[in-house]
Amino acid sequence: MLVLGIETSCDETGAAVVDERGHVRSDVVHSQVSLHAPYGGIVPELASRDHAKNLAPVVRDALRRAGVELADVDGIAVTNRPGLVGALMVGVQAAKGLAWAADKPLVGVDHLMGHLLSVFLRRGEGDAPLPRFPFVCLLASGGHTAIYRVDAPRAGAVAELGATRDDAAGEAFDKVAKLLGLGYPGGPVIDKLAPNGDASRVRLVAPMSSRASLEMSFSGIKTQVAAYLAARDAGRAGIADVCAAFQAAVTGVLADKLIAAAVRENVDDVVLGGGVAANRELRRRTAELGAARGLRVLVPPLASCTDNAAMIAYAGALRLLEGERDDWSLAATSRTSLERRTRKGGGKR
Ligand code: KG4
Ligand code: ZN
Repeated sequence: MLVLGIETSCDETGAAVVDERGHVRSDVVHSQVSLHAPYGGIVPELASRDHAKNLAPVVRDALRRAGVELADVDGIAVTNRPGLVGALMVGVQAAKGLAWAADKPLVGVDHLMGHLLSVFLRRGEGDAPLPRFPFVCLLASGGHTAIYRVDAPRAGAVAELGATRDDAAGEAFDKVAKLLGLGYPGGPVIDKLAPNGDASRVRLVAPMSSRASLEMSFSGIKTQVAAYLAARDAGRAGIADVCAAFQAAVTGVLADKLIAAAVRENVDDVVLGGGVAANRELRRRTAELGAARGLRVLVPPLASCTDNAAMIAYAGALRLLEGERDDWSLAATSRTSLERRTRKGGGKR
């Protein structure tokens, strides 16, 4: 089964052709990073307009690179939630048009399911082993940060064990990079600068770091960085030291809680997903803590961590194999279909 996947939930316009075993035939991503960079964050209206401009050529390119025509694919999968509604609508309307014109089944995919299953994508060259169900997955991106127990590759078989009460981990990377004048997106720059810094020179503490709770909070650490910079001559603050301290605090909490979740749930496999899973320090810490507990830690290749349409095509292929499909009423919506337990902004920290 070959599926064309379409992704427009945020600031990447993506199209990919993938089979039901996860083999990626093509995966085209047009990034809008330079478009939003001057604003230090994503401007929703600009995102929608840019998706509308680029989606058709991106889809054509994905089909061409896979060596297929639209008539050859067995279905069309599109991200319809969660994300920026205007941006999602561009993908959903395009997918409907293509499915109608080529008479193909259409399935909507929850973007978070795509991230959770991205570790199953096969991109060739020494593919890593596949996780076995049930596994525990940390999904950390610019918009979401949560730990899930995944019993099967279906939204109904995914349970949230704990999530951030406020900012997503990627959002914290982006905001701290902005404070340090490092531009957008912040994750890759901080990842690059942190190894040159000394984390012990700056005292930063990630809130809610106790392993007893799997809930998290990342907005306070950004405030600590702002206070640190305000209290010192920013020129002498040692940007690399701040990066190292911030990255150590955030990845420490993420890795600790993920491994605690795996132990609590009594699973053997631990998975990372989402843009922040590209972080080298997070990968290193998770691998180290996991190995000490005898757990298998599985991390997708970088291209599968950040937003892409291959993960959407794959999650869609699994839905199509189950005989599921959506009709023309498929709508874009900002909320995920996954169960949410952590109350945003709620509770005692
Ligand atoms: O999954 P993704 O591409 O988009 C969303 O669904 O949000 O994640 C983007 C986020 C951004 O916040 C970006 O700063 C962060 O992932 N990110 C990283 C790294 N690469 C991307 N964070 C830390 N270290 C990285 N290497
Ligand atoms: Zn994402």
